[in-house]
Order: sequence, then structure tokens, then C-alpha cells
Amino acid sequence: MDKERVDQIIDKHDCEASSLIQILLDIQSENHWLPKEALERVAERLQVPMTRVQHIATFYKAFSLVPKGRHEIHICMGTACHVRGAQRVLDAVQDLTGIKPGETDLDLKFSLETVNCLGCCALGPVMEIDGKTHGKMAPAEVANVLKNYE
Ligand code: FES
Repeated sequence: MDKERVDQIIDKHDCEASSLIQILLDIQSENHWLPKEALERVAERLQVPMTRVQHIATFYKAFSLVPKGRHEIHICMGTACHVRGAQRVLDAVQDLTGIKPGETDLDLKFSLETVNCLGCCALGPVMEIDGKTHGKMAPAEVANVLKNYE
């Protein structure tokens, strides 16, 4: 994310220190993670200490300080999904993307995480991408789903 874009987001919030969290959320949502240069720019323009910006960026789960892909894949490994073959779905995702849970690919296309239950066990095994649920996933279908994401 370039400096101009960070400035635009800050300006949108009138450069108000009270909007710090909202500004970080906007950067996170557009860039998918918070680069150090962006945080430094926010601290400088809002005239808040970098330690405060960093504290917020590390405190809230919504923020990431490491690069994240444009799309977040969550594979449910909860009991209901597990007994229906979640591991094979996870294996297929790992094979196709080259990343393991907790990782992001070099093109910053996908980040992969496993979760314990997505709350729709009847649809297991469940894969969620950017919040969209793909239920009753078969390993052979994974490629078909992933190819829809750029
Ligand atoms: S165990 Fe997978 S959705 Fe509940």
C-alpha cells in the first residue's frame, strides 16, 4: 500500500487521533495486513506514539502485522468435519496452494488457517473463503472452488 493511499484513508477520518482504530481497520481491510511503513505514517500524522499504534495493532485479532493473502481460506477441522474427511480437503488445499495452516503464499493470493468449528456442522466438511461457506467439500472439488479467486 503506497503512502498516498494511507494518507487518503487518514484524511477520510479527518486525521483524528480518536479515529485511530477505524483508520487501522480501513488499512487492514484494503491491504489485508498492516505494513510497518503504514503504521509509522499513521503515528506521524495523528501525532500518537508508535507504541500506542503498535499496541492496538497487536491487541485486536482483526489486525495482522505479517503479510496476508487477498483471500483467507479457513478449513474446519472440528469433529463433525473431521469425521467427514476434512483432513483430505486440507491436504488438497495445501497441495494446490503450496502453503500450510498459518502461511501465506508468495503472490499474496491465499492465506490458510484451520478452525475448530464454523457453526454449520451439517454441511461438513466445510471450507470458508473470505467468509463464504463451501459445504460438503470433496477433495476433488477444491481446485474448482479455488480457481474462482484471483
Ligand atoms: S465441525 Fe465443522 S462446522 Fe462444525
